This record gives sequence, structure tokens and C-alpha cells, in this order.
Amino acid sequence: MPDSISKTFTLKNNWKFQRGPQENAHKANYGDQSWEQITVPHDWAITGPFDKENDKQLVRIIQNGEECATEKSGRTGALPHIGEGWYRTKFTIPDHSEGKRVFILFEGAMSEPKVYLNGIKVGEWSYGYNYFYFDVTDHISPTESNTLAVHLTNLERSSRWYPGAGLHRKVQVIVKEADHIEQWGVHITTPSVTNELAKVNIKTKYVGKDLQLITKLLDRDGKTIATEKTQTPTDNQFEQDILVKNPKLWSPETPYLYKAVSQLYAGDTLKDEVTTTFGIRTIEFEAGRGFKLNGKVRKFKGVCVHHDLGPIGTAVNKSALRRQLRIMRDMGCDAIRAACKMPPIEQLELCDEMGIMFLAECFDEWVTPKVDNGYSRFFNTDAQKDLVTFIHATRNHPCIVMWGSGNEVPDQLEPGGVECAKWLQDIFHQEDPTRPVTIAMDMVKAVMENGFGAIADIPGLNYRVHLYEEAFECFPQGLLLGSETASTVSSRGVYKFPVVPGKMKTHQDLQCSSYDLECCSWSNVPDDDFVMQDDKDWVIGEFVWTGFDYLGEPSPYDEMWPSRSSYFGICDLAGLPKDRYHLYRSRWNTEDATLHILPHWNWEGREGETTPVYVYTSYNSAELFINGKSMGVQKKHKATPQNRYRLMWNEVTYEPGSIKVVAFDDAGNPAATKEVHTAGEPHKIILEADRNEINADGEDLAFITVSVVDKNGIACPTATNQLNFEVTGKGTYRAACNGDPTSLEIFHKPKMKLFSGKLVILVQSTKECGEIKLSVYSEDLQGEQLVLFSTNRVLT
Ligand code: GAL
Repeated sequence: MPDSISKTFTLKNNWKFQRGPQENAHKANYGDQSWEQITVPHDWAITGPFDKENDKQLVRIIQNGEECATEKSGRTGALPHIGEGWYRTKFTIPDHSEGKRVFILFEGAMSEPKVYLNGIKVGEWSYGYNYFYFDVTDHISPTESNTLAVHLTNLERSSRWYPGAGLHRKVQVIVKEADHIEQWGVHITTPSVTNELAKVNIKTKYVGKDLQLITKLLDRDGKTIATEKTQTPTDNQFEQDILVKNPKLWSPETPYLYKAVSQLYAGDTLKDEVTTTFGIRTIEFEAGRGFKLNGKVRKFKGVCVHHDLGPIGTAVNKSALRRQLRIMRDMGCDAIRAACKMPPIEQLELCDEMGIMFLAECFDEWVTPKVDNGYSRFFNTDAQKDLVTFIHATRNHPCIVMWGSGNEVPDQLEPGGVECAKWLQDIFHQEDPTRPVTIAMDMVKAVMENGFGAIADIPGLNYRVHLYEEAFECFPQGLLLGSETASTVSSRGVYKFPVVPGKMKTHQDLQCSSYDLECCSWSNVPDDDFVMQDDKDWVIGEFVWTGFDYLGEPSPYDEMWPSRSSYFGICDLAGLPKDRYHLYRSRWNTEDATLHILPHWNWEGREGETTPVYVYTSYNSAELFINGKSMGVQKKHKATPQNRYRLMWNEVTYEPGSIKVVAFDDAGNPAATKEVHTAGEPHKIILEADRNEINADGEDLAFITVSVVDKNGIACPTATNQLNFEVTGKGTYRAACNGDPTSLEIFHKPKMKLFSGKLVILVQSTKECGEIKLSVYSEDLQGEQLVLFSTNRVLT
């Protein structure tokens, strides 16, 4: 790389961290030797311990329809995220020469970061989820070591879920020439696209005088397909239109990515070079006809994801994000809504690459608070700045097909709400004229009356399927999005009898039933959404709440300790699919067949009792056999939403042995079978890794699912054995999670109990290649070892 172009360093290692107020910790010469040595991204609270008192909130959750305030113990995860924290690191700038500009970029800091460089305050930012940068040129030492110190504060009652704490996303130092392309200064759109030709419009903002811009477009293989030279900018912005012949369009099925390499020259000297990944695709939202990607109507098969990555908390890790997206994609999911906040950049990069559409949202609060110390404290002063920054940092990602300006903001009801919605939407339009804006609304009756629902380009409704038709008639837009759907609750592998639907149902063990008939007072079961999705052309898709369980918000057990994480996930907190995963898969994954039986068949003590069997399948009919006896054929039909999407044998009497289902194709021929057996006593541990080879980069993770089988190799679905773990060789033990929302076991200790017969262990690579050995053992079981490899080949 020639000396003259910009350089970016990620500040990953050599950070020191200390909790609590620390006098003078901003100063360059402060003694931080005794502080903890950590790497960034970091979440200081995820190592626990869980404690009922951590951010215990006495609140009335108005959005949940509560009448009075009650004590909510696990609302934000019961982990110690409240309080102050300090981070310090030192860095030098190699080859620094006079006149360069230096920037420090944070992709998220939880929260209210105050940033000091060499003892001087260089800036602060309020919102913990946003990206921001400061020009620190005037305070940098070009030759000596520089000290960066960051102070963070998390107030009580500032969140409705686990927000984590700390420098939870990347921190980078960017060194540029005085003449340079601005940070996020490249803006790429594709104003006209046909199969034969695409026009790529590139606006490039820069600092300097008498410069020219050369932009090269590269295809996926790195081949240059077009070059454009521009010398006559206006207002420090170049604008170029570049034609691409026979463009390869980006879509979930064909996530084709191009690159634009923008080179800024002064005469013959290269001053800056920025590479931007982009896609060529069209999006249209048409009244009555729905959403079209590249001219084809499709409905969003989406899930909402929340903020944490389960046992590693909120510290961003690309391989953990990639695993989540893989699991969702196998289910047939083609869209993600990172609800209530700005997503990590890595998540957008992965969605571009893997072909997953994105609804990018920014706020859970505007002017009117939901929690005492939430974003509403900053909205009036910061919203515009936060929004513009958000749009500039993310708008080139082809995966983003829609913006979201707010989630269930109470301003839906307040005077000024309509104006505020319009103001935010105008900012989106101004900074990105290519994508529509939605608002996720829950006060549906009110927004029909007060005009709020008519503002958004795309009205988004959270739940309230019974009001879809009325809202569609009332709103002028001619289409509707299920911006948040279902919020069905379940615990993996747990089933409750008798099998009856229920809202806000609680059970003594603080678990929810996996027959998928339980939900909250405001929400519904998946089948209710499916009916609207299937029967109404003007419903443009859904985003299920949520793809994965997350820390905090343990409805319907908000008041019941030790519930500390959600029950909403299609997968549990460890990423293990619950039964519901197969229900969505049976309609969303149109490539692979789905055939899944529930419940498990280990019901000692229920002999002779009614134990319904459900089958989630892409086939329309199937026959069930209990110990070889037919229970008859069931066909999907339209009597109830459940009959339409599930096959149910409600009168089965439990007897141990086997349950077998034979599914039929549409010609009535047997097409697939599935069998579940009653297991004996747990005997042996089984380990299964999601990947046997990982990158030796010190960050990559392998996820190993641990289960136990009996002497005959049959999986034991109710096992709760206590296990111990050990990792040796070129890897380290990172965390474990069993998906039990009531467990107070700590994720980073190398031992944990199985929950419903399973748990997941995360093993992290070091920077050395070689063998990594995981041993899992228990007093009462035959142990097991698994060998993984870490390598320098680039693996995804
Ligand atoms: C919605 C809300 C989400 C989450 C969810 C739980 O009303 O938008 O953030 O709280 O309920 O069902």
C-alpha cells in the first residue's frame, strides 16, 4: 500500500477495564496496571452474577396493558450492567507525517460515552447503539504513544431488555491525508435497473481542493468492469453515473455483490482510497400488490432479533452472528428486523453476503418515555444527529430494503406525534431517497383515528391481527406490514397438560409449553399470522418476535424470579431450535421438506393419560402410529388456524415405546417418516460441532451441541445432568448456555446443567493454528471428547 493513502487500525487488544468511578482515569499518565486486561468488543456485565436486585424495576408496563406498577426483577436480564465503567488503551500511529487527519470511530458504546485522548476530552455521544466518530487530529501525538480513555455510564431503568454494558462494538483509528474522502462519504444508489443495464449513481463527499476521483467497479471475482474519472465536483462532492451491462441482481436467492473502489487523486498522487460493497436490485412497494424485489412480488418471511448474542452477551462477534443467520436461513427466513435500535455493522455485512433482507430501525422511544431513563432524555437534542449518522453509516448495504423510525413509541398517542413521525421520515427521505420508512405501531385503534397511521410510507402493525382489515381500509397506503408478529412463548422441550391455548399462562416451574398455544395478552400464536399472510395480498409479510430468546423481558414471568430471559424465541438463548422452528420452516423453507413430531415421548407417570401429538410438516397429510398402532390419518384443513397449519392428534393416550409419523405427498404416497422413542436412563454424552474447522484469528467460535443418550443411543429429552467442560490446545472455553430462562448458572464457568437434555458450548480459537480438544464429563455419565481444528485458511 503506498504511504499516502488512509489506514484503519482496529483497537482490539491491550485494553484495560475497571468498573465504577475512577478519579483521574482520563489522564494520560494514570496508573491502570491493576485493571483487568480485556479485548474489545466487550460486555462487562455478561459474566454476572445474576442477581434479582440488578436493575429491579417497579413499573407499570403500559404497552403490556398493565393497570398498576409491580416489581419486575428480570426485566433487563438481572446482570450487573448498571453503573460506570472505564476503558483505557494505548496506541501509536506508524508512519505518521505532518498534515494527516486522525479519526476515532466507535460502532457502539453502552452507554453515554465520554472519550478522552491524552487526557483531553475529545467528544461524547449519548445513544449506546449508534456509530460515531471524532476528528482527534489536534490532540494526537504523531510520534509518541497515545492514551485513549472512555468513560461509560448505564443508569437504572434505562432499558426494557438487557442492553449490556461497555465497548460492545468495534473501535477504530482512521488516519487520512488532509485531502480525503469523508467518513461514510460514499453514497451508492442504483436509480435504474433492467436485465440489460444498470445505472449506478455514486456521490462522493471529500475534503480538499483541486482533486479528481477515479471510481472502479469490481465484480464478485474482483475483475474491473467499469472505470470513471471525474474532475469537476460541486460543493465538495463528486457525482458519477456508471453503467453496468447485464447486471447480476442482488436477492436472497442470488446475493451478488459488487465493489466500488473510490480513489481520490491530487495530480498523480493518490490521496485516499475507499472500497464500498454494494448490490444492484430494485425495490417497489405497490398499493394492493405488495412488495416487489427485482420486479417479483414476495412477502417478508422475517424475524426480529434483539440485542444480545445469548451467553456472550452484547459483545459483537461475527461468527456468532453468522451462526444465528445460518439457523434462520435454514428455516427459510429471508429477512431480519433488528428491532428498536441500530444493528451492528457486522450483521449488515453478513446479510448482504448471505442474502437476507433487512428492516433497519433506530428508536424505541421518541419524545415520550417508556422507561424513566431511556432515549427520550436525548431525543429532542440528538435525534436528528443520530438518524443522519445511522443512515450515512449503513445506506450502501443492499440488504436494507426498508427503514424503521420507531418501535411502539408512545408518541403514537401524544400531541405532536404525527409531526414527529413526519419529521423523522423526511430525514430518512432526504438522506436516502431510495427506501421507504415504516413505523411499528401497537395502538392501532388510536392511530387509525389520529392520523398517525397514515404518515408512514409502510404502516407496520405489531400484533393485533384482528385489526388488520380495519386498518387496511382506514390507512391510505394500500398495504400493511406485520412489523412484529406472534410473541408466542415457549421453553425448549417443555410441554404442559392439558393442552389448551392460553394468554399470560403461568406454570409452577416458570416455563412455557412448547405446544405453541401460549402467548401474551397483546400477542397471538403463529397460525393467526399465517392466515393473514396467506389470505391477504396487501399484507406484505411478517417479522416474528423473535428469532432467538434474549436476555431480559421474561414475559409472562416478568414478576417472577428467577426468570431472567425471554420465552419469545423460535430458538432458545443457546440458539437451539424449539418446536416452533419447524412450524415456520414447514411453510418458509420451500426447498427442503420438514417433518417434525412433538412432544418427546418420555412421560413416566402419564401412562394412560391423554397426550396430544402434533406434527409440523410441509406435507399436507400424515398418519401417526403409537407402538405400531395407527392413530389415523390427519389432513390440513381450514376449520381453525391450527388445523390449517399443523397436523394434530389430540386424543392420543400415552404409553412408552415409539411414535412414528408417515407423511404423504399430494398423490397420497408415503413420502417421509419420522420416529421418536422413549429413552432410558442417561448413559453417554454426545458432542456435535456446527463447524469442525475454525479460523485461527482469536475470535472465531465453534458451537458444540451437547446431548445425552441412553444405552441404546436414544436421545434423553428430559436429562438435567450436571456437566463439566475442559478445552485444551489452540482454543479456549468461551461460554455455555442451556436455554433455560430461569437458570442462574453463569455462562463463562466451565460447568452447567443440561436443560431438556441439551446445552451448547462455545469454543474460541487462539491465534495459533492446530488442534483444539473439548472434553465434556460428568459424574454419572460416560464422557466424550471432540477434536476441532483451527486454521489460517479463510473460512466462513
Ligand atoms: C412488543 C415490543 C417488543 C417486545 C415485545 C414482546 O410490544 O415492541 O419490543 O417488548 O412486545 O412481546
